[in-house]
Amino acid sequence: MVRKQFSPSKILAHLGRRGKYLTDINSKIRLYNGLAMPRLGLGTWGLSGRDLELAAQTALEVGYRHFDTAAAYENETTLGQALNSSGLKREELFVVSKIWNSDQGEGLTERAYDDILSRLGLDKLDLCLLHWPVASKTLKAWECLSDLYAKGRVSAVGVANFDLAQLKWLLASSELKPMVNQIELHPYRSQTELTDFCREKGVVVSAYCPLARGKIKKNQFLQKIARRHEKTVAQVVLRWHFQNGLAFIPKSAQPDRIRQNADIYDFCLTPEEMAGLGKQNQDRSVLKPKFKFDSDGFIIEENQENQENQGN
Ligand SMILES: NC(=O)c1ccc[n+]([C@@H]2O[C@H](COP(=O)([O-])OP(=O)(O)OC[C@H]3O[C@@H](n4cnc5c(N)ncnc54)[C@H](OP(=O)(O)O)[C@@H]3O)[C@@H](O)[C@H]2O)c1
Repeated sequence: MVRKQFSPSKILAHLGRRGKYLTDINSKIRLYNGLAMPRLGLGTWGLSGRDLELAAQTALEVGYRHFDTAAAYENETTLGQALNSSGLKREELFVVSKIWNSDQGEGLTERAYDDILSRLGLDKLDLCLLHWPVASKTLKAWECLSDLYAKGRVSAVGVANFDLAQLKWLLASSELKPMVNQIELHPYRSQTELTDFCREKGVVVSAYCPLARGKIKKNQFLQKIARRHEKTVAQVVLRWHFQNGLAFIPKSAQPDRIRQNADIYDFCLTPEEMAGLGKQNQDRSVLKPKFKFDSDGFIIEENQENQENQGN
């Protein structure tokens, strides 16, 4: 009898369809309050006008339902128009935005939240984040978000750019635990200690700059894996995020890449490949924030001009 030969990736892909990795673009991660967040989202930093309209329309057609914006991106109005004219029901979408640093503080954060809603043309955000930890203001801002959550005005609340010590501090200082921490995470900055802590505490990690802003493209180890699976380096990296159990929000202005970034559900990385990707870590950030930070890594509030290109 002649036995049919299958390659390891075909076997894994087959097992994946039937078992552990069974899933697709609709895959969601449950926040501790029960809300289901689609794991793949479209990042929108740097997108505006016609580019953003086209990106959002393409993403919606492909099946993206999670969209990530921020007051600082100055694109909420266009994104809101694209989402509101999609014909989808509100509950099918998951919209995330962020309170900018200068809007943290008593009396400011709620107003900033209302402004976000009015720009997006929505009654409620699915997830509202504090964009960065700001010395002396973050706790008040967090209390304010907690209040909005308690009143049912936002479905989930979280933080972004909180390191391990800052997250521990927030957990110890406040009643409400953030549901999400959105952090820079990619093969060159794998943040395993922070991710493990978040997992232990039930805080979902959403990986921003999941493609390291394109800096992974020339990595030969990743290129080799990509060839093996007949995928691109970007797809391999997004698949790594996926198998690591994270949410991830790649940005692209190009329709074919938006499609490509969602075409990661028909192959599996082997445990060896996952481990090899983990070894690419260099604790290297691809952001170049120009804020001034205090010794605990909180932004010093006096220095907040020039939002773009520093900590988006
Ligand atoms: N919370 C925060 O402080 C924070 C900070 C940074 C980012 N974010 C969020 O995270 C999102 C993603 O991060 P990011 O935009 O900085 O970086 P990213 O998603 O890691 O990378 C985006 C870059 O990769 C390129 N790209 C996308 N898909 C590709 C593919 N399939 N093949 C090759 N290149 C590809 C894009 O170029 P093209 O556009 O030309 O395709 C763009 O130059 C942001 O848009 C934003 O929503 C949040």
